[in-house]
Amino acid sequence: SAVKLSEYRVPDFLIDHVEMDVVLDGPATRVSARMSLRRNLQGRPDAPLILDGDDLRLSGPLEIDGRALPLSDYSVAAQSLVIPAPPEGPFELHLVTALDPAANTKLMGLYRSSGTYCTQCEAEGFRRITYFLDRPDVLATYRVRIEADRAEAPILLSNGNPESAGSIEGTDRHFAVWHDPFPKPSYLFALVGGDLAQLKDSFRTMSGRDVELGIYVEHGKQDRAGYAMDALKRSMRWDEEKFGREYDLDVFNIVAVSDFNMGAMENKGLNVFNDKYVLASSDTATDADYSGIEAVIAHEYFHNWTGNRITCRDWFQLCLKEGLTVFRDQEFTADMRSRPVERISDVRGLRAVQFMEDAGPFAHPVRPESYREINNFYTATVYEKGAEVIRMLKTLIGAESFRKGMDLYFERHDGQAATIEQFIACFSEASGRNLDQFRLWYSQAGTPTVRAKTSWDEAGGTFTLELEQAVPPTPGQDTKKPMVIPLAYRLFGENGTPLSVENSSGDGELIVLSDAHSRIDWKGLPKRPVLSLNRGFSAAINLQTDLPEADRLFLARHDDDAFNRWQVLQTATTEVLIKSVHALRSTEPMPDDAPQIEAFAAALAHTALDPALLAQLLTLPSEADLAREIGRDVDPDAIYNARLRLKQSLLAALEDDLRARYEATSVPAPYVPDAAGAGRRALRTVLLDLLTARRDERSAHIAYAQFVSADNQTDRIGALAVLSQIESRLREDALDAFASRFAGDGLVLDKWFALQASIPEAGTLERVQRLMQHPDFSLSNPNRVRSLIGGFASGNPTQFTRPDGQGFAFLADNVVQLDRMNPQVAARLLGAFRTWRALEPVRRAEAEKALRKIAESGSLSADVNDLVSRALT
Ligand code: ARG
Ligand code: ZN
Repeated sequence: SAVKLSEYRVPDFLIDHVEMDVVLDGPATRVSARMSLRRNLQGRPDAPLILDGDDLRLSGPLEIDGRALPLSDYSVAAQSLVIPAPPEGPFELHLVTALDPAANTKLMGLYRSSGTYCTQCEAEGFRRITYFLDRPDVLATYRVRIEADRAEAPILLSNGNPESAGSIEGTDRHFAVWHDPFPKPSYLFALVGGDLAQLKDSFRTMSGRDVELGIYVEHGKQDRAGYAMDALKRSMRWDEEKFGREYDLDVFNIVAVSDFNMGAMENKGLNVFNDKYVLASSDTATDADYSGIEAVIAHEYFHNWTGNRITCRDWFQLCLKEGLTVFRDQEFTADMRSRPVERISDVRGLRAVQFMEDAGPFAHPVRPESYREINNFYTATVYEKGAEVIRMLKTLIGAESFRKGMDLYFERHDGQAATIEQFIACFSEASGRNLDQFRLWYSQAGTPTVRAKTSWDEAGGTFTLELEQAVPPTPGQDTKKPMVIPLAYRLFGENGTPLSVENSSGDGELIVLSDAHSRIDWKGLPKRPVLSLNRGFSAAINLQTDLPEADRLFLARHDDDAFNRWQVLQTATTEVLIKSVHALRSTEPMPDDAPQIEAFAAALAHTALDPALLAQLLTLPSEADLAREIGRDVDPDAIYNARLRLKQSLLAALEDDLRARYEATSVPAPYVPDAAGAGRRALRTVLLDLLTARRDERSAHIAYAQFVSADNQTDRIGALAVLSQIESRLREDALDAFASRFAGDGLVLDKWFALQASIPEAGTLERVQRLMQHPDFSLSNPNRVRSLIGGFASGNPTQFTRPDGQGFAFLADNVVQLDRMNPQVAARLLGAFRTWRALEPVRRAEAEKALRKIAESGSLSADVNDLVSRALT
């Protein structure tokens, strides 16, 4: 049964305060909850009290205002506890539930990870701890007493500030009391109990308050938490400087756990993290891991204002906190590192995942209108497209009005559970602009396509741009209205001088396309200018331009927008690769790749270029990028071969340049995880990949040499990734050496699992099946599953889609098996099917068979059931 946005109703009851007493005691864990309830005057006057519950066991009778409630006065069903006639005035409801955290394999609610008691409540996990009004528009203050064995759980944490702690006389047990003065929805509740090491620090806020910071990790891993702490302090400062947001409690704690369904969780004052986003050392983590940690630490911290102080009215508004917070963490990274490089990698990610999602059976609006399982809506569309919508809003109204709108939003809605309409209203007021049409970005799914046609009238000196937009149909939305599309542009004259000429719509260097068709003229020009359009990817669209070859070459050289310099080369390379794919599948001749060789040579020769940017320029569009551009009848083998072939011609033509640059791009020891070093290391590995494109024994030696000489994980895994693509003895030696060096360290071995899962060879499926027996692999650890099984399904286009269907069948079997244990992790794996209909007929038929097999396997979770049925319709 679907939940619908249009059917939202305010809660009939409210909970103002909760007193919890949690006794952590293995399978005999007990949770006592006393909630201060009252009827909501805005609700239905005679409504019964219906509390949510999931997999709960009541222990003892319910009490209202201290008196046991007769059994006839309430009923307990699988998903609810109903009190048909509760008191009219405010009352206190007391109930006790009995839990076995170690048996909780869904990792939602209270569970154990390597012995540590921890919680995950978003979106609907609190109802697995106690019966509650488990919805984000019910905001309560909490006081939580936690009790546990002192030896087993010396550390006891919850939300808010610590109030008291002590021993329990005559026992080995102790307790701690935490109080959170900020009213919050239940999804932000958290508690942790365990034997953990602590890294301490402090932060003085802009108004001079001192906040104690703590990061809790497994013993022996404290020295891997330093970077996360540094990132936290930088995040706190940045939010003060850029958004005027100050932290509000006396303590801020982060706990890293090794079994976690998602990346991390922003529980008030007590963030719980997948340890992947906390732990790093030069020997174990790559530059990408470091920047992931920096981004996720910032993301969760920024939620304190965008998510916690102002939360969502209902789960349809998820993008209110997620899109906005992703936007904020992307801006943070851009300020900490290189802005253009951050933009390029964000857009790469957006296209690789969100554009794919938007073009297939799982497409949905940034704010969905109905769902059957909310966990399936923590998607690239809600998060990453949600962030693009915020960025477009800022572009449209300007930085100043945007900041005014944010200030107004914080002022007006602090302490509330808000909606997208309320959020957007703040920006209309701040900017004086009507944003009704802009709001279509929240309700219309699908990636808009904009076609741009230019023409030049020599006699009148007029340059004309004709624009045409269309949004493709998506599930449940056949026809679409024109969107508001902010296109940043610049016109260049000879030698790359920017021209400042008003266009006919007069908006500075911004065109706001809001009709299906539009025409813009620039008059009085001496010569045909060159147009740089959608600069910085100002609009999240598919742009099709008719730029002549000469203009492209000009932009590749002279555009002062680094993003568009990169884009021009990507577009040209994509076109050549698509032609190669067609040639490989027919008798057409292979396209001429001389222009690509020339462009790469020019980039390599440009010595002043930031190495990180050069690395991006030299990276070919991914297999997924090409599959998306091709769109239908996709043959992953042909795509793979076209890319390899282009790399080989680049190598044949530029070998000396590539080698010279590779050798000149070393980074002096010791390793520092800064952006400059990361850029050079990224470039080195991209060059290594090109240098070894022949995939012969000599290539293997070159990659192996980097592998053995590496003094940091980035260079080591970079080399191993390249080497793993080359069938050779050296590859197996290197893989074995890596495995014995990092035996027992699952987080590091995740990289090793994922690399092997992505080998584009026929033997890979058997290899993956063998690796599932590896002592460091476990189906119950989400990170391991994502690395090995997810790495195969989402990181190996040729083998996952094997024409014999074995790859699909393997995934299907594992999804069904995992679903019994952890539905969220099982459902995530199904993301690999988001483009199955675009495959060529043989593979498509096999994909469908596998999906049907899952659908028919019976007793599926709501999570998997929802995705499989959407995939098949
Ligand atoms: N709010 C978290 C974040 O984005 C994600 C939690 C998602 N959890 C879930 N079970 N779907 O930071
Ligand atoms: Zn988030």
